[in-house]
Amino acid sequence: MKKIIVAIDGFASTGKSSLAKLLAETLDYTYIDTGAMYRAVTYYALQQEPQGNINQERLILNLDQIKIHFEYTHLDHQTFLNGVNVSKEIRLSQVNSEVSKVAKISEVRAFLVSQQQKLGVDKGIIMDGRDIGTVVFPEAECKFFLKALPEIRAKRRQLEQIEIGNEESLASVLASIKERDLIDSTRIDSPLVKADDAIEIEVSEKSLEEVYQQLHEHIIKTIS
Ligand code: CDP
Repeated sequence: MKKIIVAIDGFASTGKSSLAKLLAETLDYTYIDTGAMYRAVTYYALQQEPQGNINQERLILNLDQIKIHFEYTHLDHQTFLNGVNVSKEIRLSQVNSEVSKVAKISEVRAFLVSQQQKLGVDKGIIMDGRDIGTVVFPEAECKFFLKALPEIRAKRRQLEQIEIGNEESLASVLASIKERDLIDSTRIDSPLVKADDAIEIEVSEKSLEEVYQQLHEHIIKTIS
C-alpha cells in the first residue's frame, strides 16, 4: 500500500490527537502533534520571563535556541524541549492561555512549519493541528476537519485537565477555549479554516469510535 500524508485539522478538544494516535498505530504511521510544538515554544517563552509576560521580540530572536523532538512508545507521545521531557508542562493552564498568542507570530509559524514539512518528507505520517491541510501539506492525500459545540469541547477538556491534576471550573475552561477559537480563526497568518478539499466532520454527537471508523475507512480507500 502506498504511504500518504493524513492531515487532521480542527478546533480544540475535538479528539484530533486521540484519533491521530489510534490511526497511526493501526496504519503503522508516524503521528506528529503540531499543537505540542506550539505549546513547547510557548513554554520556552514563559520560562524566559519571570513575570510570565511573553516578550515577542526576545522570543523571535531566540527561536534558533529551541530544539523540539518527539519520542514514541505504544500510543504514548512524549514531547522534548532542548532535551527535556516537557509533555506534562505544555498542558498547564498557563500554556493553554498563552499558546494562541504565540501561534499568531509569523516568525514562530515559519520556524515550526518548516520543521513539520521536513518531518513529512517520507510520507507515512498523520499530522494534527490547525493549518496542516491548508499550509503545511496542501498536497496531503487525506484531509479531515473536525468541529464540535464549544460546550461539549469544554467538558472534554475539563475532564482531561482533571486527569492531569488541574482542577478548573467549566466556565473558565469554556472561556479559554472560546478565546483560543477566536484568536486561531481570525489570525492573519494561516488561520484555522477548512481546506476546500477537507472532509468536515461534526463530532458533537459522535463517539470517538464512530469518528475513527469514518476516518479509517476513507484512508484505506485512498491508499488501496
Ligand atoms: O489540544 P488542543 O486542541 O487544545 O490544541 P493543540 O492542538 O495542542 O494546539 C494548541 C494551540 O496551538 C492552538 O490553539 C493554536 O493556537 C496553535 N496551533 C496552531 O496555530 N497551528 C497548529 N498547526 C497547531 C496548533
